[in-house]
Amino acid sequence: MNVLIIGGSRGIGQAIAEKYLKEGHQVGISFNSTDPEYLKEYPKEQYFSGQLDVQDDQNIPVFFKKYKEFSKNKIDVFIYNTGITIDGLTIHADIKDFDKVMAVNIRGAYCFLKEVGYLMYYKKKGKMFFLSSVSAKKGGRGQLSYAASKAALEALVRVGAQEFSRAGIMVNAIAPGIVETDMTEGVLSYLKGSKKSDGIFDRIAMRRLAQPSEIANFIHALSSEEITYITGQTFNIDGGYML
Ligand SMILES: NC(=O)c1ccc[n+]([C@@H]2O[C@H](COP(=O)([O-])OP(=O)(O)OC[C@H]3O[C@@H](n4cnc5c(N)ncnc54)[C@H](OP(=O)(O)O)[C@@H]3O)[C@@H](O)[C@H]2O)c1
Repeated sequence: MNVLIIGGSRGIGQAIAEKYLKEGHQVGISFNSTDPEYLKEYPKEQYFSGQLDVQDDQNIPVFFKKYKEFSKNKIDVFIYNTGITIDGLTIHADIKDFDKVMAVNIRGAYCFLKEVGYLMYYKKKGKMFFLSSVSAKKGGRGQLSYAASKAALEALVRVGAQEFSRAGIMVNAIAPGIVETDMTEGVLSYLKGSKKSDGIFDRIAMRRLAQPSEIANFIHALSSEEITYITGQTFNIDGGYML
């Protein structure tokens, strides 16, 4: 399979990339500021990596062209994993931070839906996944821009599915609960040092956080040739957080 992951340098994106790489698939990733050193453990001909800041939409077609040169115009699975959060109470927040979260989390996703959708449409095959979050439906105080961007992403998936699924392309969103990555490190280390940490586990039926590999395994399973009739959905991978 040919797999492309936007935001594959660390965290969930790295776990997804390594899941496919370990099975011998051809994997392309983008990184922004983190050198994806882990790729060096795999054969050079098996992977492509390129620097891309998704806020720079002029560069998205340039990056995608380079990926297509590597994959010989093939793409079976596309994952828009890139996402950022800039938390803070709305009355104190900077509008520029709102714009940045929107540019990275939803505008970049839209640009890639166009690019990847065009290629998959004419091949009449492919699966696209967009990383949302349980915050789209249950965002807390201080998470307004992040929650709004992920809610928009889920709408993009529902409409994108209607536009692309007639060509045999599945478009779905994955909404993790709390996963142990750099994104959550700050808030988790704060909570661990306070009594509030008990409350967070109380809200998760499975009483633990997720590991990046658990999100990667689910996406990998959905990308199997056996899964053929699901589109426009958002899957909560949250250990029962949304119950
Ligand atoms: N961790 C959680 O608890 C959690 C929960 C729900 C949903 N999610 C979602 O899952 C996805 C992955 O989360 P994560 O925890 O693995 O995040 P992470 O560890 O912070 O990694 C974020 C990824 O996005 C890339 N990125 C950030 N800004 C970018 C930009 N301007 N242009 C291009 N790439 C950029 C990063 O690249 P560089 O490393 O090169 O900067 C990195 O590969 C996100 O969409 C997030 O919203 C995470």
